[in-house]
Amino acid sequence: MSVEAKLEVNGQTWTLPALEGSEGEKAVNISDLRLSTGYITLDEGYGNTGSCISKITFIDGEKGILRYRGIPIEELAEKSTFVETAYLIIYGSLPTDSQLAAFSDLLTQYSMLHEDMKFHFEGFPASAHPMAILSAMINAASCFDDKIMHWQWKNLKDFEAAAAKLISQVRTIAAYAYRKSRGLPFIYPKRTYKYTRNFLHMMFSAPDEDFEVKPEVAKALDLIFLLHADHEQNCSTSTVRMVASSQANLFASCSAGVCALWGPLHGGANQAVLEMLEQIHQTGDDGSRFIAAAKDKNSGKKLMGFGHRVYKNYDPRAKIIKKACDEVLAHLNISDPLLDIAKHLEAAALKDPYFVERKLYPNVDFYSGIIMRAIGIPVEMFPVIFAIGRMPGWIANYKEIMEDPKSRISRPRQVYIGKTLNHYVSLEQRQ
Ligand code: CMC
Repeated sequence: MSVEAKLEVNGQTWTLPALEGSEGEKAVNISDLRLSTGYITLDEGYGNTGSCISKITFIDGEKGILRYRGIPIEELAEKSTFVETAYLIIYGSLPTDSQLAAFSDLLTQYSMLHEDMKFHFEGFPASAHPMAILSAMINAASCFDDKIMHWQWKNLKDFEAAAAKLISQVRTIAAYAYRKSRGLPFIYPKRTYKYTRNFLHMMFSAPDEDFEVKPEVAKALDLIFLLHADHEQNCSTSTVRMVASSQANLFASCSAGVCALWGPLHGGANQAVLEMLEQIHQTGDDGSRFIAAAKDKNSGKKLMGFGHRVYKNYDPRAKIIKKACDEVLAHLNISDPLLDIAKHLEAAALKDPYFVERKLYPNVDFYSGIIMRAIGIPVEMFPVIFAIGRMPGWIANYKEIMEDPKSRISRPRQVYIGKTLNHYVSLEQRQ
């Protein structure tokens, strides 16, 4: 059944086509609005704007549903791995044995950075934030590969190689950024280690002794990567699509995604949560004073790790992470006062009318930092872990743009509210 919407402006009526997605999401297509009516729409923060049609990820924020390529996040969290899920997200279906083996082989093949990249790391001060290093180094890595640098969407094989290189090398760059900040020698990836184990090896091994990785620790970090692997048109993914729409190369587009992710309202929230919990702990607050401040708009404080533009129900990723958090801490025999504060904050917020009325629930970042802290990952690396996890989602969105013959450069409009015609005045006359 075809549905239409009618728009009436100044007594004139226009018919706009409507469309419905495979999960019943409804949209009014305004692609021709300006040409036919002279009007644009205004939607600051894009809360009501669909910027694309996509087959990758489905979210129902009211019901707390998240699915990658149709598969519920709960099933993937229980049964899959980050690498398998990355394949699913990028290529559209779960891999067969041989597809998974070929994908893993590519990740192994490309895990080493070009040796000259070491000199780039040397140029950063030890205090540099690893997200700055990550973004810069993803771009730098593309300079060592002509095919990526002078990217043209040519064939799937080139894309597969570039995608595997990015997923693999982002992990190597991240570990090197950490080692650089601690003044430690770089540890090369090991071909025999699996993806997440290899990352922990590059982070924590000594040159003469491999770090012993408990399987539960590798599993928990792998789960964190998997839960972050995609989240439809959020700030960083939209940024990647925006940059990709100009036909910039894959590495340049994803490096822009890292910058968009960095902020505390997005991927930097996990770092902000931990800093908030530490501050609450240090001031001897049980969380009550902080909650009061978070409700006061003049305090400049927010309950970090709470709230979401799309989820108006519990973030399904937060439920999974909370359980994993309890399990990892129990396994490592760690009792973390910050976990107690987090649980207290959650319980208090969930019955506070301010948070209830605004449908503010814990999001994925609320508990993930406590797991990472237990593993020994320093707080400034938290957004980097998010970026490693999000890479498959960015790559899949990039692929969608490149495969769409109707794809156009992203170029929003604005409503100008500045000065009307105004003339140049010479410097002497300006006194
Ligand atoms: N603490 C206190 N008040 C909040 C919070 C919070 N964490 N989040 C939203 N509110 C209030 C907000 O002030 C507003 O109140 P009012 O209606 O009185 O003006 C109302 O709730 C609606 O919030 P909003 O700012 O319109 O929501 P948004 O969709 O623009 O922002 C958000 C979403 C995630 C940026 C925001 O909830 C937030 O800043 N949360 C804390 C940061 C955070 O945890 N970010 C991680 C998001 S999940 C990971 C990811 O995918 O990026």
